[in-house]
Amino acid sequence: MVAALAKNTNYQLTAASTGIQLAGTPFPETETWSFNQQSPGPLLRLRQGQPTSIEVSNRLSQGITVHWHGLRIANPMDGVPVLTQAPIATGESFRYDFTPPDAGTYWYHSHMNTAEQVGRGLYGPIIVEEPAAPPVDRDLLWVLDDWKLDQQAQIVSDFDNPRDLARAGRLGNTVTINGKIPQALAVKAGERIRLRLINAANARIFALRFQRHRTLVIARDGQPLIPYEPGGPVVIGPAQRIDLVLDMTEQPGQRYPVIDVYYPQSPAQLTSLSYGPEPGRARGDEYPGLPLNPVPEPELGDPLVQRIELSGGDLGQLQNAQFGDQRLEMTRLYLLGKMWTINEVVSSGYSDPPLFTVRRGRTVILDFRNNSAWPHPMHLHGHHFKVLEHSRDREVTGKWLDTVLLGPEESAKVAFVADNPGDWLFHCHILGHARAGMMAVIRVS
Ligand code: C2O
Ligand code: CU
Repeated sequence: MVAALAKNTNYQLTAASTGIQLAGTPFPETETWSFNQQSPGPLLRLRQGQPTSIEVSNRLSQGITVHWHGLRIANPMDGVPVLTQAPIATGESFRYDFTPPDAGTYWYHSHMNTAEQVGRGLYGPIIVEEPAAPPVDRDLLWVLDDWKLDQQAQIVSDFDNPRDLARAGRLGNTVTINGKIPQALAVKAGERIRLRLINAANARIFALRFQRHRTLVIARDGQPLIPYEPGGPVVIGPAQRIDLVLDMTEQPGQRYPVIDVYYPQSPAQLTSLSYGPEPGRARGDEYPGLPLNPVPEPELGDPLVQRIELSGGDLGQLQNAQFGDQRLEMTRLYLLGKMWTINEVVSSGYSDPPLFTVRRGRTVILDFRNNSAWPHPMHLHGHHFKVLEHSRDREVTGKWLDTVLLGPEESAKVAFVADNPGDWLFHCHILGHARAGMMAVIRVS
């Protein structure tokens, strides 16, 4: 379990470099960058609609900011360097004050030098409690990550590896749950578990199969939905969250693997559910679902429709792209570590002019097309959007997300009410892709 701080609305987070036993014996501790000497950082347990203060101090040798991923809060507290605040310099601190409008499962992470800082462990989970959630026997959290470790279990520091940047992103060789090599999860026959999944990996997509257990999805990216059973494994892209209800309907004394089948050629056992010896009672009641959050419903009458073309990367068709005030050949851009574009523009960082501006209160439709051979989990800050259609994934249609996963050559349409004024970051959450140019700003005026 992730350690919880005392339940109140004032927290202190300190970023520092810390040795953590990640890989297990006989390996030495891994030198990480983390909050409060743990990665994931401490669980922040917040209450919906209640003001929260979080003091962040920086003891690293480079600047940081903290982004509260998925919380629809005011722009100055969103934690994007340059765009919404000055970086928190070494030895300094910054107080974030906000009121989470939505209950659910969220996370926080540094947004400065993000691929490296998050890749080294600078993130943690957030639970915003529902005022009245239907009861479960246990509420568990799995923060999933993968780490690229060398023989001494130290983090490989090639965050600019061009092959990772131009392809699927940085995939690790060591998968952890809550910062540890997964152990079997001890369960009891008959119990009902709410399992909150957070994918904190730089690039890895998980597709989890809970052998012999029915998986009921009750929320995605924090937002409750009408509970449904996915037709296949539970697929979770970088930065996404999925809340499941799992009923322990199997046999006492037995073990059931949880397998990651995202790479079908090499399915990997993530962990297992290990039943204690006690017999359980069967339960017949259906989980009723969570109370909805107050997300504004898009008005589809007269929306602003914006095409979003995702292009670049290895095997891509793109010949050249805009970078600052120049049009450059992709071969040139590759040498600068820039491989990715939104609408054929390579981001120059956090001071790009807006991709488009929308008047506050208007409905926007983002019409995505992934022209590349690689997946892109696209994240919009400050808003949740409703998926109107997705060329492959029928399951996400009608769901509220803050990060939508587009596989190679896939397309999707999402809609949201631009009700939160400010300049909002919009980017791929494969963090190497964002670093290599797949980022933009959307202005709500
Ligand atoms: Cu989870 Cu721009 O971030
Ligand atoms: Cu991407």
